Amino acid sequence: MTIEAGDLACLKAIALLGGCRGPVHVSSQSLATALGASSQTAARRLKSLESALFVTRSVRPAGQYVAVTRTGEEALHREYSDYCRLFGGASPGFVMTGHIVSGVGEGRYYMALPPYRAQFAEVLGEDPFPGTLNVRLDGASLPVRKRLDALDWIPIHGFVAEDRTFGDARALPCLIGGYRCAIVVPGRTHYPEDIIEVIAGVPLRETLGLSDMDRVAVEVPERDEVDHD
Ligand code: CDP
Repeated sequence: MTIEAGDLACLKAIALLGGCRGPVHVSSQSLATALGASSQTAARRLKSLESALFVTRSVRPAGQYVAVTRTGEEALHREYSDYCRLFGGASPGFVMTGHIVSGVGEGRYYMALPPYRAQFAEVLGEDPFPGTLNVRLDGASLPVRKRLDALDWIPIHGFVAEDRTFGDARALPCLIGGYRCAIVVPGRTHYPEDIIEVIAGVPLRETLGLSDMDRVAVEVPERDEVDHD
């Protein structure tokens, strides 16, 4: 869906007030100041954003509350991708944002199995830390996650050990906080698709000081930017 430049600026101003996290108090006057426009223009833009379903609006006794919708967040994300392309070099790749969540501790077990470990070491260019970091993606990043399926993933081959079959998986190199990581998708996953599992050579929580609910950006650059020599 296209969005007019002035409306986009208005949407960004609402997001900066905290509108992506829920309804925020927005007066036409404060919005006008933020946009350098008249309050009539600010009110018109807000109306236009609402009718295009980029925001929802509710009027309470304390004033007007506005929240950015999933569609609105996606529009901002597209703009962000354009700026990445402008300033981030020729190939911006993909950026997803989300927050850290705990899993059931299975990652540690699978990562310790030598056949998997050897293949992940090949992907990362270093021995993997035994575990997977789980990131619950923001709504606006889900379309980005879907697009990743079309990329060239590295196959991870399953194996049989101790009368048990361990399944295939696939890995996609990425970066978190500048550290070389990879998204791993098991053939049979227990997780809904809004959670991604990330492996790295370093303990990411400890290295980056991350706890549950902390926000991270997962960058998937063009392959040759992450590939090791
Ligand atoms: O499933 P769960 O998140 O409980 O744990 P795990 O996959 O067994 O990983 C063990 C711990 O290491 C978790 O707290 C992960 O978030 C963390 N981890 C990390 O800090 N850095 C990595 N490269 C991989 C996992």
